[in-house]
Amino acid sequence: MVMKKGILIVFEGIDGSGKSVQAKLLQEKLKEEGFDVVSFQEPSDSQWGREIKKKAFHPDSLSPEEELDLFVKDRRENVERNLRPALQEKKVVILDRYYFSTISYQGARGIDPDRIRKINEEFAPKADLVFILDIDARSGLNRIKDRKNKERLFEREDYLAKVDQIFRSLREKNFIHLDALEKEEQISQKIAKIALDYLRNNLA
Ligand code: TYD
Repeated sequence: MVMKKGILIVFEGIDGSGKSVQAKLLQEKLKEEGFDVVSFQEPSDSQWGREIKKKAFHPDSLSPEEELDLFVKDRRENVERNLRPALQEKKVVILDRYYFSTISYQGARGIDPDRIRKINEEFAPKADLVFILDIDARSGLNRIKDRKNKERLFEREDYLAKVDQIFRSLREKNFIHLDALEKEEQISQKIAKIALDYLRNNLA
């Protein structure tokens, strides 16, 4: 399958929303259907991404502005190293978290969401489709409570409730909100249908 342009498909949602599982399922489905697909995640494995992961284990070690700065630096690198080259090769790029996470997570720490958006849209390619898995913070946390590092800063319930509110408020034409409490298979079928329709409309 040859596309007329690179396609960027983003998955977003709070911790425990199941977005990473859905990103993987879509990648498999698109491969089966013959699309040239690659996937990346943010934070990435750049030096900035590694710093973020190290510091995220120490609650409140970073101010909101320092956090914003690190996520933006990591994203600039991910865009230059991974996203732009793949999009230029007209691949389908699946991305597990993007700047809508920054708008929501750092927005929930008190930074103006419009300012965060502006900073990012100055350099980050526009997403074709954004799937947002909506889930209340309590249910999200319950799902990850068996996973390690559950005490991380990023996973506190009151904080995640605010993050979830901001995610839910992001509404644009190419944004698809899904109820993360539905069955995994039901969600993946909805996502596959929307993505395949979009891709078939953008074949070369
Ligand atoms: P990650 O390790 O990918 O966690 P998950 O597996 O839950 O997706 O991301 C670490 C944390 O970083 C996650 O709780 C969300 C947060 N985050 C931000 O606060 N801002 C951002 O811009 C991004 C990309 C992630």
